[in-house]
Amino acid sequence: MADQSFPALMIREEVAGADRAQVVTLTSADLMEGDVEIEVAWSSLNYKDALAVTGGGRILRHSPLVGGIDAAGRVVHSVAPEFSVGTEVIVTGCGLGEFHHGGFAGRIRVPADWVVAMPEGLDARKAMLLGTAGFTAAMAISRLELNLQEPSAGPILVTGASGGVGCLVINMLAARGFEVIALSGKPALSDWLKSLGASEVLDRAAVTWGRRPLEKARWAGAVDLVGGDLLSSVVRSIRPWGNVVSIGLAGGAELHTTVMPFILRGVSLLGLTSARCPMPWRRELWQRLASDLMPRDLAAVHTGTVGLDELVDVSTRMLAGRTHGRILVSPWSVVRGQSPETVDKP
Ligand SMILES: NC(=O)c1ccc[n+]([C@@H]2O[C@H](COP(=O)([O-])OP(=O)(O)OC[C@H]3O[C@@H](n4cnc5c(N)ncnc54)[C@H](OP(=O)(O)O)[C@@H]3O)[C@@H](O)[C@H]2O)c1
Repeated sequence: MADQSFPALMIREEVAGADRAQVVTLTSADLMEGDVEIEVAWSSLNYKDALAVTGGGRILRHSPLVGGIDAAGRVVHSVAPEFSVGTEVIVTGCGLGEFHHGGFAGRIRVPADWVVAMPEGLDARKAMLLGTAGFTAAMAISRLELNLQEPSAGPILVTGASGGVGCLVINMLAARGFEVIALSGKPALSDWLKSLGASEVLDRAAVTWGRRPLEKARWAGAVDLVGGDLLSSVVRSIRPWGNVVSIGLAGGAELHTTVMPFILRGVSLLGLTSARCPMPWRRELWQRLASDLMPRDLAAVHTGTVGLDELVDVSTRMLAGRTHGRILVSPWSVVRGQSPETVDKP
């Protein structure tokens, strides 16, 4: 059988500027080792992808590499007995788009232990509207639950609220009975954030923060996508026994704090790394995303669909803070000459 050709966004780590990420044609023979070959119906754009595509941060551990940390589609070839041809599957993180050819391509080939069977209630498009962002939001909620964060304790602050993870975590927390306060640099999106479940939207530029080791305890917990000074300020402002989930660094990687919030208020700072989530927990979280954690407004977080040829532009806009919500990626639109949203899916 002749090798199937397909489009892919190839990124060269050592190259800066316009030639860094280019749409190329590959065949199955170009793919890396793996047990399961998947025809990708949908991928999605995450902050980490935008860093990889533009060179805004060092994500790639191999060069050249096909980008894309997310993929969903159907198995076309498998030597793993648990995944037969035709099975719908999801792959997120695990090294995809970091050291293994990723989901910005018509096909991927990956180890079987990276693959999650599509849970009932999801399909490839819905799974990629969630993608790493939704999976991370689910993981954040799981971390809060495991550390006994109750809705009755009071409001949860979500920073970086309009981004992919932020808008999904707002929607999921609100559905679980939490009062959610959104902190956003885009006050113009207040109505949208409220429609997703935020009871109040704070303008990032208008909030004033004190510098004392303990500030007024305003929130019962927080989910932080921003890091840096904002996370330092949030940690000083959490009520006794509250939890702060630290997820992102859109505003900075440093964290300056004293131990006071931890030893005088019992505040917990919880980390998470979605790419390295162990498989049993990964499967459980995808099952929950298809059931009790399924965002009730998933369609409302979808703000665009792009082809591989548009990824450099939209990644640049994402890093400049000029995107919001979730952006789907349609890997086949470039070859089929159709608009990304209407392309015939394999
Ligand atoms: N730990 C993990 O496993 C994991 C998994 C997924 C994502 N992440 C991280 O989580 C963060 C969000 O990811 P995402 O995919 O949701 O990205 P995204 O869609 O680009 O959202 C990031 C949001 O952060 C805010 N923001 C952007 N630049 C900022 C700045 N300079 N200062 C303060 N806020 C800024 C913006 O929200 P507003 O304008 O509304 O404030 C923006 O929409 C990223 O840092 C990403 O690397 C980590």
